[in-house]
Amino acid sequence: MARLNTLLLGSGGRESALAWKLSQSPVMGDFYIAPGNGGTGSYGHNVLLSPMDFEAIERFVEMRHIDLIVVGNEDPLVAGIYDYFKGKNVLVAGPSKAGAELEGSKDFAKRFMMKYSIPTARYQSFTADTIDEGYKFLETLRPPYVLKADGLAAGKGVLIIDDISQACASLESMLGGMFGKSSSTVVIEEFLKGMECSVFVLTDGTGNYRVLPVAKDYKRVGEGDTGLNTGGMGAVSPVPFADEAFMQKVEERIIRPTIAGLIAENITYCGFIFFGLINVDSDPMVIEYNVRMGDPETEVVMPRIVSDLLPLLEAAAKGNLGDMPLEIKSEAAVTVMAVSAGYPGKYAKGKEITGCNAVEDSILFHAGTSLTESGELVTAGGRVISVTSLGKSIPEALEKSYCSMDKINFEGKNFRRDIGKDVLNIKC
Ligand code: AMP
Ligand code: GLY
Repeated sequence: MARLNTLLLGSGGRESALAWKLSQSPVMGDFYIAPGNGGTGSYGHNVLLSPMDFEAIERFVEMRHIDLIVVGNEDPLVAGIYDYFKGKNVLVAGPSKAGAELEGSKDFAKRFMMKYSIPTARYQSFTADTIDEGYKFLETLRPPYVLKADGLAAGKGVLIIDDISQACASLESMLGGMFGKSSSTVVIEEFLKGMECSVFVLTDGTGNYRVLPVAKDYKRVGEGDTGLNTGGMGAVSPVPFADEAFMQKVEERIIRPTIAGLIAENITYCGFIFFGLINVDSDPMVIEYNVRMGDPETEVVMPRIVSDLLPLLEAAAKGNLGDMPLEIKSEAAVTVMAVSAGYPGKYAKGKEITGCNAVEDSILFHAGTSLTESGELVTAGGRVISVTSLGKSIPEALEKSYCSMDKINFEGKNFRRDIGKDVLNIKC
């Protein structure tokens, strides 16, 4: 098989995990990560390119004879990177701009789900012109009230509010520009109660798909799911409640209708689909679609994949996934994120990180790290390092990650000690 020169776009823990997995491929040619972080240089070459600068990426692709672009984060996809490179002698693993609307517009995603009878919360969308109808719709719902900015808002565009008058005030603020243009349309929906999980699929645009390991992330900064939302404090895979019966419902009611719907709409989609699901009395419902892998879910999904991911991504991008196998390990994986003091609020950067070399039983996926000119590893973000471990069970994997976490040090290190406890029914 010919070797594939590959460019991976992104710089977080998700991209570290993708880079770790892709770099193990026997068919990997030259491998670049743009811009990468303080850890990705050990899997390939970090390149100082912005994932949003398509022209600079194109020049790089030509110069380095890149065969495949793997897109880690949603922004380039929503901005149309697939369409930009169409017909340009390089494959892009990711959806077209039209497909990326599943994440880029919550209103589009809700209309799509309604049209294809995919289970999701009851909703209506409003703009400044229809704000009065928005107030009336809120009155038909029971608290808490869920208000979502239609467009991308860096994971911050969802408000869950207990009080009706506060919900009305928030609707007004959102439509008035709280999230810029992203909230010029607001989706209001029914609150669903249940445990969440993340299901990932790789699809090739012709109806073929593979289901990746299912994961659950921990979004709140505080133990017991308290405090502010973050980009993710940890994750586990598999998810005990997402058993065979549940996953069968997910495939029948959600995955297949989504893929069939994309084809029926003539939407080109060759890449990952991330189904953010909630388990409502054993029935899966869609909370959101994303058009990329999850972070920090990727940090537990990649270590559970046995198969070579690179040929699978190439095949997805070419539309010929056929019956290529995707083998998954039965072992459990967990990840615990070390974050900077103050995150997700204000935090310091540039703190020296020590102890990584002493870690033996875990994989360290760097997120917000960088190397100084003298080669010192320092913090460069709120989420610093994702500490992933495999084990026969979730508790066994957790023990390894917490033991490794104790070996890593930087000023202000913070992490959650209760990752995975809810799915194991352990009281915190
Ligand atoms: P989203 O960006 O749509 O994933 O929303 C962020 C988070 O808000 C989700 O992960 C859920 O925890 C919560 N959420 C969103 N929509 C709902 C809903 N309809 N009912 C309950 N929780 C929700
Ligand atoms: N972990 C959720 C996300 O990546 O959006």
